[in-house]
Formats: sequence, structure tokens, C-alpha cells
Amino acid sequence: MKKTRVICFANNKGGSGKSTTCSNVGYGLTLLGKRVLMVDGDMQLNLSLSLFDEDQVLAFARGDKNLYEGIRGQADLQDYVVHSDYENLDLIPSSTLMSSIEYELFTKWQREFILKKCLKNVIRDGEYDYVLIDAPPTLGGWVMNILCASDEIVIPVESTPWGMFGLGNMFEFLGDVREIAPDLQIGGVVITKVDTRKNYFKQTLETLKELEDVRVFDTFIRVDSTIEWSQDSHQPVLAFRKGSRAAGEYMELTREIAGLAAREA
Ligand SMILES: Nc1ncnc2c1ncn2[C@@H]1O[C@H](COP(=O)(O)OP(=O)(O)O)[C@@H](O)[C@H]1O
Ligand SMILES: [Mg+2]
Repeated sequence: MKKTRVICFANNKGGSGKSTTCSNVGYGLTLLGKRVLMVDGDMQLNLSLSLFDEDQVLAFARGDKNLYEGIRGQADLQDYVVHSDYENLDLIPSSTLMSSIEYELFTKWQREFILKKCLKNVIRDGEYDYVLIDAPPTLGGWVMNILCASDEIVIPVESTPWGMFGLGNMFEFLGDVREIAPDLQIGGVVITKVDTRKNYFKQTLETLKELEDVRVFDTFIRVDSTIEWSQDSHQPVLAFRKGSRAAGEYMELTREIAGLAAREA
């Protein structure tokens, strides 16, 4: 049986395109025939909103079938999976109570590995080819959990001075994480929300090329208002408007990520 690959989308800088990328790569992988479980690790509920409307997402958040409840009870997350409207695409929804997840983790034994333990049966049963986890814009114990549960991290980064500054912090944090999760791979950095007319984008590419041992995906995602319209209608852009530029770019990125996982499997 093929091993499930667990990939998280993380960067402590907010607005860098984590949720958008997680959602679209997740859906893109199903178009490649893969079975995908997406895990919404952020109290902002954005990944959940990329698949379900507000009423449904709030119902998940207020109910007892969401990630917060699963982690709090150290439960088997197989029981927290909901099916989306799309074939082979499932979700573990989030809750606004995720804001107090650090507190919940604090008293627990081996607190960095709670998410990994809760996902154990999901991985063991091999029901999914990919588990994609959307991380919040923080660098604490919960993100540590997400990284410890992952085989790879993909880092979406915006081509701005503060985006590049944030990336430095991220790599420092990853150095600490490596001490307890030595097998975690850096899948790569993907540049998002690019305006190719700006010279700063060229400088960003130059700076990123200097990073040793870190892959920068060939595909970058340009600014495209279709992304916002797709989110307004709670659909991945690849489902909302397949012919759009953003959909094409996200499909390319999906292929790059899938190739990377296949190479390492
Ligand atoms: N390629 C893009 N073009 C236009 N807007 C985008 C693009 N990618 C993301 N956005 C918008 O930028 C904002 C931040 O993206 P999001 O994925 O929520 O980032 P994060 O999860 O890192 O906070 C969202 O409002 C989203 O609609
Ligand atoms: Mg997000």
C-alpha cells in the first residue's frame, strides 16, 4: 500500500497564501486522481470556507465534529472527517476555539505530538494519498504539532520585504523543530500573489536562489482576482473557473508538488 504523504502549508506571516494554496493544491491533487484529506488548523476557518458556506462552517465550528474537539479529547481524527461536494476530497473542519489550543496542549504528555497521534489511524489505513494541513500564522506549540505530524512543509511566501523578513524567522523556527522532528523535509517555497510588473519580484527570486538546500518551486502564483471570486463562492479556483490563469498556475504547482512527493516516496 502506498504511503500517505502529509504536507503542511505554513508560514508565520499572515496573508501569504497558505489557505488559498492548501485548498487549491488539495483540489488539484484530486484532479490528478489522488484521494485527499485537508485539515483546517486555523481558527480563521479559511480552509473550511474554501469548501463550505458560512452557515455550514459555523455549524461545524459550534458542533463537536471539528479539529479543536478532536485534539482536546486526543481522539481518533477519522471520526472527525466530513465529505466535501467534491469526489475524493474530505475535510477536518476547524473551530474558532482553536484560539485556545495552546492552552489545551500545555498540560498534555508529549504535547508536540498530539496531532500526529490523533492522525495515526488515518495514516495507518492508507485511505488517503495526501493529508494537507493548513497552519495558522503563528509559531508556537500548535504549529510545532502540525510540523511534527508532517512529512513535508511547503512555505507560501509573498514577494514583499516583510514577506522575506518573515521567511527568516520561519527558517529559524524550523531549525528548532528539526531537533524533535528530524525527518521533516522542506518541500519548498512557493511565491504567491506575484505582480510581475514589480521589480521587487525579481529581487525576491534572486534572494531565494541564494538559499542553500531549499527548493523554490518553478511555478509562482500571480495576483488574480478570480481567486477572491472563487473564495466568495466557497470553491477552489480550479473548480470555480478552470480556464483562469490562477487555476492554471495552481494546477502546475500541484504537479510540481505531486512529483516531489512521488520522488521521495
Ligand atoms: N493569487 C492571488 N491573487 C489575489 N488574491 C489572492 C491570491 N492568493 C491569495 N489571495 C488573497 O490574499 C488573502 C490572503 O490569502 P490566504 O490564503 O488567506 O493567506 P494566509 O492563509 O497565509 O493568511 C486572501 O484574502 C486571499 O483571497
Ligand atoms: Mg490562512
